[in-house]
Amino acid sequence: MRTPKTIIATTIIAALHLSTNVSAEQAYSLSCLGEGHSILVPQTTAKYLLIPIQETSNESRVVVFNNNEARQSLNLRLAKDKIDYYVPFAYKDGDKLYIHEPFNRDAAYLHTSDNDVAWKSAIKFSDTFNIDSNEKYRPRFHFAPLTGWMNDPNGMFYKDGVYHLYYQHNQYGAVWGNLSWGHATSTDLVHWQHQPEAIVPDMALGMIFSGSSVVDKDNVAGFGKDAIIAFYTAAAERQMQCMAYSTDGGMTFTKYEGNPIATSGKTDFRDPKVIWHEPTNKWIMILAGGQEMEFWSSSNLKEWKYESSFGEGQGCHGGVWECPDLMLMPVEGTTEAKWVLICNINPGGPAGGSATQYFVGDFDGKKFVNLAPEKTKWMDYGKDHYAAVTWNNAPEGRHIGIAWMSNWQYANITPTKMFRSSNSLPREWSLFEYDGDYYVKSAPVREFEQHLVKASSKSKISASKKPVSVNIPQSADGIYTIDCKLQKPDNGMITMSLVNAGGERVDMTYDGSSFSVDRSKSGLTDFSTDFPVKTTAPVYSKNNSVELRIVVDKASVEVFGDNGRFVLTNLVYPGKPYSKIEFATDGKKAKVTDLNIYKISL
Ligand code: FRU
Repeated sequence: MRTPKTIIATTIIAALHLSTNVSAEQAYSLSCLGEGHSILVPQTTAKYLLIPIQETSNESRVVVFNNNEARQSLNLRLAKDKIDYYVPFAYKDGDKLYIHEPFNRDAAYLHTSDNDVAWKSAIKFSDTFNIDSNEKYRPRFHFAPLTGWMNDPNGMFYKDGVYHLYYQHNQYGAVWGNLSWGHATSTDLVHWQHQPEAIVPDMALGMIFSGSSVVDKDNVAGFGKDAIIAFYTAAAERQMQCMAYSTDGGMTFTKYEGNPIATSGKTDFRDPKVIWHEPTNKWIMILAGGQEMEFWSSSNLKEWKYESSFGEGQGCHGGVWECPDLMLMPVEGTTEAKWVLICNINPGGPAGGSATQYFVGDFDGKKFVNLAPEKTKWMDYGKDHYAAVTWNNAPEGRHIGIAWMSNWQYANITPTKMFRSSNSLPREWSLFEYDGDYYVKSAPVREFEQHLVKASSKSKISASKKPVSVNIPQSADGIYTIDCKLQKPDNGMITMSLVNAGGERVDMTYDGSSFSVDRSKSGLTDFSTDFPVKTTAPVYSKNNSVELRIVVDKASVEVFGDNGRFVLTNLVYPGKPYSKIEFATDGKKAKVTDLNIYKISL
């Protein structure tokens, strides 16, 4: 039995390297049918077909058929002239592959002889598949897929002490495509165990796009008490809402035979979020339809009625509205509660591209009314916080959210290889009042706290124009948390920077009313012109000081200001871990207090 090299915070249950290290026969036949069509017939009992991928190649359509029936279709970026990596395809006895390449007919390619195409001579069969879990930018305590591409978190629910997380997953390449719901579980929101794929595409309705799950405690849908009901968008040429149920606690799902359960003439119609609305005794489904959020209602989770739409003239409309959520939240320090409507939007975010906006208001089971229609509110002002949604059925009424830590502007080309993208830290969401308006606060879940081990501390540092620096212990190796309090000079600003031995740096500046994170010199930035930027958040306090918690995990810097009253989440790709902190002002004297650097114990 092969064990994975090291994934510190991630134990692998359903790994890909399952059996003994027997190398399989390489036998297969490949019949060329002319003009980019061929049929591959494996002649081995090996578990995996290892497929050579080239990310810049066009997608080829591969239909897997068995006994003359098509059972699966995949879009694969088969390697033309260079192999970036292999992806494993677990095939069944008797499977054959009909390969049609490429979709975008590329004349030069079509006329090359078969043997000139890299994948044809490089395809392999094996009982094992080796995952490089030590990739340089693989996070250690943020969730990332074992292999392949990930985008939005989906269908999260809590039950019997376990947090379930599903996610948009491409098992067959580290770029967007072939979307299914990957699955992972955790009992503490820090350590994640990979589980087998939960819901996979079907040839009838298409890929499995984003959605949500509920625990059906009263068996209203008739699949059994406590069945897990997942709602997702089936996406091929058109998008429609479907449901699937699980009677084994979310491990395996059966697609409901009455699918689809909600349809529309809109071409962007997706991402069902289902919640229980106590006051009207109804289930509510919130759907993203174009640049609006639609509210639908149901008593049995199967039949849905359209109620209303929200969006026209409200908030930001720089792009498509996606991935909604809706929840009633108490307002801190009061007896009031308000409804918060989450509306992820792409593009149109405050720093360009994808971001999470929200509206605070009232919801009566039919209609959402925004209390501050003239304002746009963002949950996170960094560039890499998208598709944020919460866990259903979380304990103690907690609102625990998680976001995909990337941005559609460059998500497909970030400098990783066998996997692409990770999630934000799970965060506790709450509501606070400031200057007569309501805002969402988002701070790391308290479970994270238990993993912080103090490595060094300084009670007071004086900062001035000449930078003063503090070392980050080398053993932290790019995974650590920094807490401190910045007191800015009167009529001035203070900058705190993370700097590495190669001079790469992340500059964070506080000027009293705003806080910015500049990653333009943070390391590798040239893979996209949208990457090297400065992101800026408003600061909701007037006392010239901010309390910071900065969480670093290899390739991400999450800044939580004033316990989550402002947040900036940004990816970074430094050549070496940032190894010191520098403080400097624009001339006047300033104070840094309660500086604590923590290593993360996992
Ligand atoms: C958001 C999104 C969703 C969609 C999914 C597809 O990032 O575009 O609207 O369901 O990704 O992967």
